[in-house]
Amino acid sequence: MALTEQITKENLPKHIAITMDGNGRWAEQKGKFRVFGHQNGVKAVRETVESAAEIGIKFLTLYAFSTENWDRSKKEVNALMTLLISTINKETKTLMDNNIRLDAIGDLDQLPEKCKKELNQAIEKTKSNKRMTLILALSYSGRWEIINAVNKMILEEAKQVTEEGFQQYLNTKGVPDPELLIRTSGEKRISNFLLWQIAYTELYFTDTLWPDFRKEDLVAAILDYQKRDRRFGKTIA
Ligand code: FPP
Repeated sequence: MALTEQITKENLPKHIAITMDGNGRWAEQKGKFRVFGHQNGVKAVRETVESAAEIGIKFLTLYAFSTENWDRSKKEVNALMTLLISTINKETKTLMDNNIRLDAIGDLDQLPEKCKKELNQAIEKTKSNKRMTLILALSYSGRWEIINAVNKMILEEAKQVTEEGFQQYLNTKGVPDPELLIRTSGEKRISNFLLWQIAYTELYFTDTLWPDFRKEDLVAAILDYQKRDRRFGKTIA
């Protein structure tokens, strides 16, 4: 039986988050500049987005640029921003054809004007699409998001807060917590990604470097998730 057919449709994660790691190492292994790795990372993004929608995932969050990534060389940061702008521009049609809504989380004000403009146009254009929501985490970190939420609450003079109430101040308001978080490249860290939201998320680590990540890798992660016994701190019923 093909791997994809082994997926149990009734037990699909609604939301998958991915830390796309290993672009630099992939390029270095080939004797190329790091940017070459990011360019090939875009191919993996395209295939993963299409595959996730085909499988029936409702939310896919990709960690594309962290708050800490601003500290990389100017050359690499510029190349990443340029790649983002051109990819969003080129792929908006693919998103429309596949009925996929684009959204973004993070400190988006830090992005270059051109990038913000391209992003906002794509978000606006795709806003009525229903099959899947693709969320790009850009200039994002979990701690930034939590502090940002607290500051918004202080401004609103909130007196007391519940978990549900606090979630309304996060960038992910209205989005279910991810059931599955995938990280590529063999690193076993969270690296400031969705800190609040991953309280009960299943973690999946693979040695595959991001530019090599394909549909079968996504399917393998989902099949592994479906074998897990999720108890949320309770005992087995
Ligand atoms: C991590 O690899 C990857 C990034 C910091 C950037 C991810 C960006 C892309 C895949 C391209 C653009 C994305 C979209 C959504 C259009 P790394 O550079 O940390 O690799 P290393 O750990 O091997 O150095």
